[in-house]
Amino acid sequence: MSKDPGRVLIFDTTLRDGEQSPGASLNLEEKLAIAQQLARLGVDVIEAGFPFASQGDFAAVKRIAEQVGATEGPIICGLARASHNDIKACAEAIAPAQRKRIHTFIATSDIHLEHKLRKSRDDVLAIVPEMVSYARSLVEDVEFSCEDAGRSDHEFLYEVIESAISAGATTINIPDTVGYATPSEFGSLIKGINENVPNINEAIISVHGHNDLGLAVANFLEAVKNGARQLECTVNGIGERAGNASLEELVMALHVRRQYFNPFFSRPSGSPTPLTAVRTEEITKTSRLVSNLTGMVVQPNKAIVGANAFAHESGIHQDGVLKNPLTYEIVDARTVGLSDNRISLGKLSGRSAVRARLEELGYDLNREDLNEAFTRFKELADRKRDITDRDLEAIVSEQVQQPEARFQLRLVQVTCGNSLKPTATVTLADQDGHEETSVALGTGPVDAVCQALNSLAEEPNELVEFAVKSVTEGIDAMGEVTIRLRREGKLYSGHSADTDVVVAAAQAFVNALNRLVAGKASQQLHPQRDVVLTENRPTL
Ligand code: KIV
Ligand code: ZN
Repeated sequence: MSKDPGRVLIFDTTLRDGEQSPGASLNLEEKLAIAQQLARLGVDVIEAGFPFASQGDFAAVKRIAEQVGATEGPIICGLARASHNDIKACAEAIAPAQRKRIHTFIATSDIHLEHKLRKSRDDVLAIVPEMVSYARSLVEDVEFSCEDAGRSDHEFLYEVIESAISAGATTINIPDTVGYATPSEFGSLIKGINENVPNINEAIISVHGHNDLGLAVANFLEAVKNGARQLECTVNGIGERAGNASLEELVMALHVRRQYFNPFFSRPSGSPTPLTAVRTEEITKTSRLVSNLTGMVVQPNKAIVGANAFAHESGIHQDGVLKNPLTYEIVDARTVGLSDNRISLGKLSGRSAVRARLEELGYDLNREDLNEAFTRFKELADRKRDITDRDLEAIVSEQVQQPEARFQLRLVQVTCGNSLKPTATVTLADQDGHEETSVALGTGPVDAVCQALNSLAEEPNELVEFAVKSVTEGIDAMGEVTIRLRREGKLYSGHSADTDVVVAAAQAFVNALNRLVAGKASQQLHPQRDVVLTENRPTL
């Protein structure tokens, strides 16, 4: 049996695999904010990025290692293909962290070997020990992944895993890269590894999986029953294609059904000891932060973090819940940090009250950021009577999007109505503070705003998504707008909230434009698609 830490380790890959979602790219400040929140959430490992991908990725992993990994917190991990250059860059980026891990991988399925790597099984069997021992010469903690393990020949997989462990791998990760496995197949795969790899007791078995058939979480739970003790997942389940296994669903399944899972950990079924180290009350906040910063909207019916996850619509259900919540609720909303936290902040609240509430919410802002948040709070309080935690979170998360801004929105004004041609006037400032104004007509006010902004920015793009939802309830609620722009096949998202949805749309559009400009300037490698092992890291 593989090494057993006695509970499940949560390996969060929101900042690496999650960021591989189309349009979800994050800037350095945003990555840092998410990493800090993941540390508060209590994950065991943060996969902070793929350092060899670009100078920007390298800098982000290094900064997270310095700022989040400096204290006794999560292990900071970086991804590296099985090549010297990738592994070296990874080791340099994670160096400042107290607890650090290199995660290196190579594909093991015949389909990947033949069509992607153009290598033989023998080639892979030669590369694995060489690269794992190189990684081990740089750090103590090395994870090795057999990419596309879900479709790999089992006997070959056992051989590769044995050689990786002999070379020093401390965690062996089994990815269902294309989300093909069914729960019982995936469970048997883990069982087979436990039974057939002679040195498996020297490593922890981890699983990683995509949600192409909607089975990722179910597959992981079967894997846990068969001895997997690390789960690789993302907040809100974001990631390549249909996404990764979702952190909140896994953690809450292990929390709510602890009695069922306890015996698989050789515990009495009634043992109250949690199966993960995650602070469940931080889940909702983490989900919102990730959604706001990546622009990946959470579907309303998403388990645990969807807007409707705790809403009871039918009269019969409402009646039952009022009599006894156990009739229709298996999770108390407060367990995941969801409460009706209407707070007494308003027009007359001072800076210290706002700072105190932000601190309670987990936002420890420096003086400058606090000043900016307070100014935005005051502007909002002029238009909205009660400011809720959700409003404060919307203000703060938007601030994080600003630092690398090429364009600043200075003015937006629209005229529209049933007998008027929608017209927008907008003013943008560049990085030197130079302002330009443009006026445009559109099919509606938002279209007019986008036309005017495009004529100033001169950055060709196609608007592919425009979504509005309200942050809280009531007529004075803030509207959250998410915009996605496409350029040369790549997506760039922008997000903003305001009591005026047209203003929110304008700001979201500018945020997306800023990402597009930054993305255009950075050449980025994809860890799985770019298989030619480049000698040099692309420059920003
Ligand atoms: O899906 C996958 O196989 C991966 C590996 C790099 C772990 O993301
Ligand atoms: Zn993946």
